Amino acid sequence: MKTENSIYGEHRPALEATMEALLQHIEAIRAVMTESLGMDPVEHSLARIKSEESMREKCRRNNLPETTESALEKLYDAIGLRIVCAFVDDVYTIRDFLVESNKYEVLQEKDYIRHCKPNGYRSYHMILRTANGYHAEIQLRTISMDTWAALEHHLKYKKNLGDRTALIGSELKRCADELASTDLSMQTIRDMILEKE
Ligand code: GTP
Ligand code: MG
Repeated sequence: MKTENSIYGEHRPALEATMEALLQHIEAIRAVMTESLGMDPVEHSLARIKSEESMREKCRRNNLPETTESALEKLYDAIGLRIVCAFVDDVYTIRDFLVESNKYEVLQEKDYIRHCKPNGYRSYHMILRTANGYHAEIQLRTISMDTWAALEHHLKYKKNLGDRTALIGSELKRCADELASTDLSMQTIRDMILEKE
């Protein structure tokens, strides 16, 4: 795509460099935690620049003009990172490392783990502003939360469910709650192994 046609204008290389720097910071946090836990806290991570089409669609959905300013200053997820952790505590530890690094301005935090969405969605969301002035959305979640979100995302696009909508919704919510309960049990087992109080 030609630069003049991109909603990111001339900013794409800087966005990519910023995303890379964030990933490197996560890698550094991960190394410190691996040392102290004796295990790697990160199962996997994903990073992406939001596609042109998704960004334009999001501008329209939010009644914003399809401009570089909207994409970089009005919406905050041009850069997106998803960090999938083994255990719930690791989510909060990574969150603390990010905040306490003082590298970023924390514009927003949404704790959908302690306060899940009505449908059962769980994750810890942060909006960070980097020193060079870009925004990034960081999603931190456990493997279980990631599994549920991925499956629910598939089902979202399924056909109109008619009068089965409520039942299917409550079944999805039940699965989310069961996974959350398992996450807590697994955390407790790890605490026992690490002999934490
Ligand atoms: P967006 O317009 O989608 O950015 O929503 P928002 O600004 O209200 O932010 P929110 O923190 O609720 O959600 C941001 C992102 O979290 C979404 O783009 C998804 O990646 C993820 N997410 C939020 N809710 C759900 C959900 O119910 N199911 C799944 N699978 N993902 C979700
Ligand atoms: Mg958002």
